[in-house]
Amino acid sequence: MFPSKRRAAAVIAAGVLVSGLALAGGVQAQERAQDEPSTLAASLREAAAANGKFVGTAINNGLLGNSTYANIASSQFDSVTAENAMKWDSTEPSRGSFNYGGGDQLVDFAQANDQQVYGHTLVWHNQLPSWVSNGGFNASTLTSIMNNHITNVVNHFENDVEYWDVVNEVFNEDGTMRGSVFQNTIGTSFVGTAFRTADAADPDAKLCINDYNIETDNAKSDGLYNLVSSLLSQGVPIDCVGFQSHLVLDQNTSSFKSNMQRFADLGLELIITELDIRISTPADSSELQRQAQQYAGITQMCLEVSACSGITVWGISDRDSWVPGTFPGEGAACLYDDNYQPKPAYSAMVTAFGGDPGDPGDPGDPDPPTGCTASYVANRWNNGSVVELRVTTPQALSGWQITFALPAGTIVGSWNAEISQSGTSVTARNTQHNGTVAANGTVSFGFQTNSGATYSTPVVSLNGTQCTTA
Ligand code: XIL
Repeated sequence: MFPSKRRAAAVIAAGVLVSGLALAGGVQAQERAQDEPSTLAASLREAAAANGKFVGTAINNGLLGNSTYANIASSQFDSVTAENAMKWDSTEPSRGSFNYGGGDQLVDFAQANDQQVYGHTLVWHNQLPSWVSNGGFNASTLTSIMNNHITNVVNHFENDVEYWDVVNEVFNEDGTMRGSVFQNTIGTSFVGTAFRTADAADPDAKLCINDYNIETDNAKSDGLYNLVSSLLSQGVPIDCVGFQSHLVLDQNTSSFKSNMQRFADLGLELIITELDIRISTPADSSELQRQAQQYAGITQMCLEVSACSGITVWGISDRDSWVPGTFPGEGAACLYDDNYQPKPAYSAMVTAFGGDPGDPGDPGDPDPPTGCTASYVANRWNNGSVVELRVTTPQALSGWQITFALPAGTIVGSWNAEISQSGTSVTARNTQHNGTVAANGTVSFGFQTNSGATYSTPVVSLNGTQCTTA
């Protein structure tokens, strides 16, 4: 089934292309002297791509206006999943009335940043509007409501979405089918029907069944294995299994790999779709270190199982994670901390993919060093100026935002930054190409203004921290 799907060729090609590079990278890493600049992939997405895997994150559309969030999302990930915007309550809040605003916004973001979109989710008992769950429909009406929903949503995003979680969380912990409105009204056949309908709407999209607590060999994953085997034998177009992987620190995942492998042996593609590893808060540094090893372990496992095509983490930072709201007293589950600083888990994951994260701070210290130095050169003439600004950062960056005041004039052109000006206050953000900066690296960009006025050295801030001015 893989070759008929649009993304398979790209992933396989990337895997072949770069496997030699990844090996060479390992040797380089051992031989490289401490102070030599690294030639290994510095961002998560580059490191994953070097192995032919994708690395994604769930995106909360409401946070895309935060440039730090958006910069990490674009510079570190090559796949995005809508955390909520493509769920039934968002896309069809009332019967027959479809709303694609949030999904379209995510697709636009992804296309601007050369990312794939992972569609989540078509049929789920949660975030399901009550007109569906409490509608009192009979089997035939509910089937047509379900099919109509799938057809409309999948058609709308056809060509923009690579994968769909067609059904989500259809199992109980004991491996029996969950008593959702779909199961209770239609019976287990709703699953096969949903896949066939999605396939008819977009034959190129890869169609997945997604669940939690199916990572290891247990009653629930056995139930899933039996259902998927039976669906495949009936010719149901199912392409992939999504292992949500909402894990708890120190959870025993020793059978994850062999469990994945049995699904791979059915010819299915495997995706880790919602990875996070939660800790009782506050997390201490030893817990953050163990979390890092466990993120690396999952990454290593995906590398070792060739059918595993990618890993999506469920949220960027601990600040925006769903965990504290759902599991009171737990949190610290993501790759970035509450201040959008990379945690040990971030470095561990880049390293597990064979990359070199630089030194995003002492791994044992959740507060990396701060401080930056800014310098600028301005060439002025009567009616204008050309200014080059350079900012050196002691810590590695995965996205930057530099703010300063421009007392006179308007910026009329710029290079190496996306610049916005509001009155005398200017914000420069990294472009798609220069967001990743190694520790002790320098960000350099420039702009032209229509004023030749001179003024005193500006106060420059990098990601909200004021720099000293050289
Ligand atoms: C969560 C989101 O992260 C929250 O913002 C929302 O309030 C509830 O849903 N399994 C899934 C995801 O498949 O859709 C869930 O996402 C997390 C658990």
